[in-house]
Amino acid sequence: MNDPDQTKLTTGCIAAVLPAAGSGQRFGSDRNKLFAMLRGKPIWFHAASRLAARPEVGRIVMAISEQDEADFRGPFAELVNELRIELVRGGDQRSDSVRAGLDAVADDKSIELIAIHDAARPLVRDADLAAVFAKAAETGAAILAAPITATLKRALSDGNASLTVDRSELYSALTPQVFRIDVLRRAYDRHRGRPATDDAQLVERIGHPVALVHGSADNIKITHPEDLRIAEAILAR
Ligand code: CTP
Ligand code: MG
Repeated sequence: MNDPDQTKLTTGCIAAVLPAAGSGQRFGSDRNKLFAMLRGKPIWFHAASRLAARPEVGRIVMAISEQDEADFRGPFAELVNELRIELVRGGDQRSDSVRAGLDAVADDKSIELIAIHDAARPLVRDADLAAVFAKAAETGAAILAAPITATLKRALSDGNASLTVDRSELYSALTPQVFRIDVLRRAYDRHRGRPATDDAQLVERIGHPVALVHGSADNIKITHPEDLRIAEAILAR
């Protein structure tokens, strides 16, 4: 286990899976929020570019909805080809979209790790990618996570009383979430649609520990329209 060669990542051994098949309800635009522009490029392209820039990433698979297929194969085709993105059909739940991406790379012997990254997170830092990739190579499962900075309260008696929660052990989960391919396959084979809020939770359920790697809190997910303004401000810095 301490053999350094075992934790060394070869070029191209990671497949990035980008779930992009949502509809962006909370963003409230008439098309997928991922088509919104940030510095002249759609959000999904920023997310994919950051992964494509890493030498460990050999394949990029993006799960898209039936509704968006004409856009990805039409007006966006040049951007898709520029990053050599493989398009697959996503599903109703985010986990269905991830599974579609996983299935697309399952038989590729050159792939050791899968990095699942929300197409709605355009700002992930290169150093954070390097760190979470290295940790996953070492442990089999690692995710980026940001320490909670807010003061947290637990409501008691229907909110008429409250207690302060110790936040020192609490993090918010980000992406990428990176797993050895066999670990993620086992987790998804056991997944029978029981609700889970992220991929790491499915891996926890098979009893495999998931390491937390400190990631920058500016790796935000574009959820509401104002998040786009925040992303612009972060990029302008
Ligand atoms: N996603 C997906 N397939 C789904 C649902 C979501 O691939 N069935 C993707 C989204 O496209 C996004 C990522 O998962 O890149 C994170 O999801 P979220 O931020 O919730 O995006 P949406 O589901 O599109 O937004 P909303 O929940 O507001 O409708
Ligand atoms: Mg959603």
